[in-house]
Amino acid sequence: MSAMPDQLSRMTEAMPEVTQTTRTPKMAARDVHVYYGETHAVKGVNLDLHQDEVTALIGPSGCGKSTFLRCLNRMNDTVATCRVEGSITLDGKDIYDNKIDVVQLRARVGMVFQKPNPFPKSIYENVAYGPRIHGLAETRLDLDEIVATSLEKAGLWNEVKDRLDTPGTALSGGQQQRLCIARAIAVNPEVILMDEPCSALDPIATARVEALIEELKGRYAIAIVTHSMQQAARISQKTAFFHLGNLVEMGETTQIFTTPREERTRDYITGRFG
Ligand SMILES: Nc1ncnc2c1ncn2[C@@H]1O[C@H](COP(=O)(O)OP(=O)(O)O)[C@@H](O)[C@H]1O
Ligand SMILES: [Mg+2]
Repeated sequence: MSAMPDQLSRMTEAMPEVTQTTRTPKMAARDVHVYYGETHAVKGVNLDLHQDEVTALIGPSGCGKSTFLRCLNRMNDTVATCRVEGSITLDGKDIYDNKIDVVQLRARVGMVFQKPNPFPKSIYENVAYGPRIHGLAETRLDLDEIVATSLEKAGLWNEVKDRLDTPGTALSGGQQQRLCIARAIAVNPEVILMDEPCSALDPIATARVEALIEELKGRYAIAIVTHSMQQAARISQKTAFFHLGNLVEMGETTQIFTTPREERTRDYITGRFG
């Protein structure tokens, strides 16, 4: 439906100041509750993810970070006892709607796990698999191109371009994680979810993945669970602090780490519990 010019100008005039500074979120979670049978793992979480921004999810073990993250691309659908309530939207559309194609959703909202999990296939096939099942390449040349650019964006191309036919599992841990990131990127996601992507990596590999996240930030909305507050401070713009299934506080990362509003946040970031 297209508005006439005079209608448009009236609409613009009627727009309050605030709409010009408030960005539409890429994903929005509203009053999200998650249960595993009787266990109430996530309790009424409201959280927005924005384009071109890294949001860090922090908090002590068992507070529901992974559970919440997995709701954002319906990975929890695979857990029989898991029940999700509330609303989660992607570009304003409910991702739990019956009409949603979950395979398509998981291409738009990609995921990278704690332990690098390349398929037991070649480096090439690891990246080509998604584009192939989603029909993104018409010819082998197109597919070669997607594989190369995805590996380039993931900062891995120079290290693997001469051995694309060797197994992905033969790479180092840090390379495997970047391969998994390339695999996620290859299907043109809009959101990338990362669940402690560096916790199995050494400091050098961690630094490389962090630098990569910094580069990717300009193209995607990124949510990253991390147990490292230093990492959250280094790579994120927003930080959300979870405790016992509640989202206690969320804000600009600098604010959360310098002037948290809540005592529980202060206690956690100063290492009083963990
Ligand atoms: N698959 C599952 N089945 C049953 N309970 C689970 C499952 N996954 C997580 N939980 C429970 O949900 C709560 C939150 O866990 P989780 O989301 O993994 O926390 P975090 O990632 O913050 O460590 C915990 O009490 C955990 O035991
Ligand atoms: Mg977790």
